[in-house]
Amino acid sequence: MSRFYVTTPIYYVNDAPHVGHAYATVNADAMARWHRLVGDDVFFLTGTDEHGQKVARAAEENGVTPQEWTDRLSAHFAEAWAALDISNDDFIRTTEPRHYQAVQQFLQVIYDNGYITKDVYRGLYCVSCEQYYAEEELEGGTRCPVHRRPVELLEEENYFFRLSAFEDRLVAWYESEPGAVAPESKRNEALSFIKGGLRDISITRTSIDWGVPVPWDPGHVFYVWYDALVNYLTAIGYGRDDERFAAWWPAVHHLIGKEIIRFHCVWWPAMCMAAGIDPPAHVQVHGWLLVGGEKMSKSSLNKIAPDDLVATYGVDPLRYHLLRDTPLGADGDFSAEGITARYNADLANNLGNLTARVAAVVASKCGGVGPAPDPDSRLAAVAADVVVETMTAWNRFQPHLGLEATWRLIRETNAELEATEPWKAEPGPAVDAVLGSALEALRIVAVLASPAMPSTSREIHRRIGLDDDPTATRVPDGVAWGGYPGGLPVEKGSPLFPRLQAP
Ligand code: MSP
Repeated sequence: MSRFYVTTPIYYVNDAPHVGHAYATVNADAMARWHRLVGDDVFFLTGTDEHGQKVARAAEENGVTPQEWTDRLSAHFAEAWAALDISNDDFIRTTEPRHYQAVQQFLQVIYDNGYITKDVYRGLYCVSCEQYYAEEELEGGTRCPVHRRPVELLEEENYFFRLSAFEDRLVAWYESEPGAVAPESKRNEALSFIKGGLRDISITRTSIDWGVPVPWDPGHVFYVWYDALVNYLTAIGYGRDDERFAAWWPAVHHLIGKEIIRFHCVWWPAMCMAAGIDPPAHVQVHGWLLVGGEKMSKSSLNKIAPDDLVATYGVDPLRYHLLRDTPLGADGDFSAEGITARYNADLANNLGNLTARVAAVVASKCGGVGPAPDPDSRLAAVAADVVVETMTAWNRFQPHLGLEATWRLIRETNAELEATEPWKAEPGPAVDAVLGSALEALRIVAVLASPAMPSTSREIHRRIGLDDDPTATRVPDGVAWGGYPGGLPVEKGSPLFPRLQAP
């Protein structure tokens, strides 16, 4: 059995979750669910990033203490993920004692190893990014390139992480681990940033106190990013449980958005090296979900709440659309038109229609009892191919291709029914063979689609008379042709996915 440790970034709690965060979290969730399906030992971590100026200001603007604010907002994220059927094994908050302990211990090791020194820093800072920028990186020399807001001039006596000492080691790491950062275009972006020369970076603040205190100089707190990155270690027992830590690290998969590449693909591996642990095995970069061409963000007006989308479209259709329409690595556009078109084509017409049709013909031709599949059905070979294609895609972090492959079995099954027209034939062995095979295809589809649509998968199995849990089926053995036993009651039920009107 192999281990699969997958993380989302921890979300800033300056405002409520939006559908861009949902995109990221649903992808990590689906990857975790896929790996559970193939029998891996999975640990899936998400959580909230609660320190820093941005959060402190949000609390102030709302007239509450930072702790009250973060308690409220962190709960909001946890609820949003529960409503989206997110199966995280842990939810970390950076304000927890276990995290303070890990951050202090990790950075103390780096300090003791001589990679942290004191100096004065003066620079242009974007509070929304919680990041310093060089003047040439700014829009018109004054505005943050991400938020398009004016940056602020900050001057502080800070501790610095000697990032510059890791240039050669980082380049060597990139060269020896070509798959560590994916997709390749993002790997190249990080590598050329490193080759362009690295400056030491300021990792503490004295201007605020909402953060983890520096253990060797308590008037300072760690800069929010240095505290945040360590969450990936805290949750697996860094400094508390060496055996557990060794079991999960460094075989991690960090799923991150493209604007936080430098933190995860330059600073983070260097910090790990400085602390004497291996850098993360894999960073998978994804693009942004855009609305009308703009990045959806908490500081812009076009935020869309996941809860509203769940109410309109349902959990599984939303998850399916997010996974199916925006491949990891590319930007995607979120629109009512887009989700409706996908819903009607793949869910109402293909999957929903197949489920309803098979149940109706089983009712009329087989007395409502599902027959066993035909071992020689043409669909047996299609299913075998589909299983291989689906596995290959998911194992490569390509849920969109995995789902596309799975949907081929739905289309072929619908085509088989149209070619044989069992609804027009006399009941008997030929009709039983076609319907049994269609039921078997549905059983397999439900298992393969379960990382995207866990409730729908359970409902399909229930309707075709199976009392198992499709998410507990093991792929590939559990989806070998012939698993549907036959002789089970098949229920018609209401449409799984009633058609939506175009918006
Ligand atoms: N707190 C830091 C991460 C620290 S991880 C050690 C942070 N938080 S964030 O809330 O601003 O963003 C978290 C993640 O959400 C990022 O990976 C970001 O790319 C992702 N998204 C935010 N808006 C997004 C879209 N509109 N589309 C897709 N993902 C987006 O950065």
